[in-house]
Amino acid sequence: MKLKKKISILDQHDKFGFWGGKFGGNFVPETLKKPIHDLEILFNKLKNDKKFLSERDKYFKNWVGVPTRFIKLNNLTKFVGGAEIWSKVVSDANGGAHKIYNATVHCLLAKKSGKKIICGDTGAGYAGKMLSMAAKKFGLKCKIFMGVKDIKRQQPNVQAIRRNGAEIIPVYSGSQTLVDAVSECMRFWVANCDTTAMCVGSTVGPNIFVKICGWSTSQISRELKSQIIEEFGTIPNKLKLYNCVGGGSSSFGFWNEFMDYDKKQVEFIGVEAGGPSKSKKHAAPLTYRSKIGILHGAAQYVNQNNEGQIEETESISAGLDYPGVSPLHCFLKDTKRARYTAASDEDALMAFKIVSKYESIRPSLEPSHAFSVAISESKKFSKDTIVIVNSCGDAYKDRKILKKKLGVSL
Ligand SMILES: Cc1ncc(COP(=O)(O)O)c(C=O)c1O
Repeated sequence: MKLKKKISILDQHDKFGFWGGKFGGNFVPETLKKPIHDLEILFNKLKNDKKFLSERDKYFKNWVGVPTRFIKLNNLTKFVGGAEIWSKVVSDANGGAHKIYNATVHCLLAKKSGKKIICGDTGAGYAGKMLSMAAKKFGLKCKIFMGVKDIKRQQPNVQAIRRNGAEIIPVYSGSQTLVDAVSECMRFWVANCDTTAMCVGSTVGPNIFVKICGWSTSQISRELKSQIIEEFGTIPNKLKLYNCVGGGSSSFGFWNEFMDYDKKQVEFIGVEAGGPSKSKKHAAPLTYRSKIGILHGAAQYVNQNNEGQIEETESISAGLDYPGVSPLHCFLKDTKRARYTAASDEDALMAFKIVSKYESIRPSLEPSHAFSVAISESKKFSKDTIVIVNSCGDAYKDRKILKKKLGVSL
């Protein structure tokens, strides 16, 4: 299996929608074939349409607030002693996380297709918050599916969703987390696809949803590439890009523009949720070599038991608490373009403590996983290595957990 250069990885799937012949696809009920086909036609037309691109760019600039900052973490670099540590502060974006890019594009597409309602899933609450913000902006009615466990642990985002006038549909099934929210949202869409658009909150789901989301979050690496060139005059020889991986949308968006560089020059490190160190449960299908299975309409590495049943996950971070992962990341793993590892709950908490002690950014529990690995690996790197961590979410949503576990008040 080979990653081709010069062709966007988003387009490197076969005619059935599979990357590398085995990841992705469209495992959907008959009812969804037509709406999915319509969405493919619409997106394929608009993604090359200059007018649409300038409309997208206008909203990204004036409403999302791009470019987000690219900053050197001087104090952290000094404390760690090794590589230079930098951060792309994507949490600067309107609403506090990268989920705004995908939400904005989906609402623009919904408007073009004449739909009046949009539904979406959420775990950490950011995908839901951003979809509710974008829906409000574009005059769409919005329904957000969210697991009851996540409703309890991500209250600030739940309140924001409600303030934006969206309806939250609590999901009581299964583990009451993201995996169940996505399932319920897809079920709702099957029954209502004539009137309603669906936004999948990450680079998961049937092929077209993976592509729309990855295309939207690629804004992050487009900005980062020019910021790096402005700062260093070139792409450094030893560049390492760390990002947490749940469904995989922030990491894919953070890496996409650097895909064609040799991995010896630009290395991608994806950090999954290892769960509590004392538990056997985790949300790290790539790190722990899970088998390929079908989840939410796509083939992917997914945590499952010997009978192929999806296994329950456990993570302190609602946004990473998902048993599967994007087909794009499965492809990046198999082609060895990216390296994947996991950080535990405790590692993430410690990283939050260190980063917020030395710097004036406060990464949410998801990017704190990436910071944890970046910090421990940076110690061993030479001083001319440039480490960049995507701080893709703000920690305010985690204030209750951080108060309980670390005694800090946000
Ligand atoms: C701040 C933040 N980071 C990361 C994630 C993980 O999702 P993804 O891997 O799609 O970026 C989430 C998901 O909710 C999130 O809210």
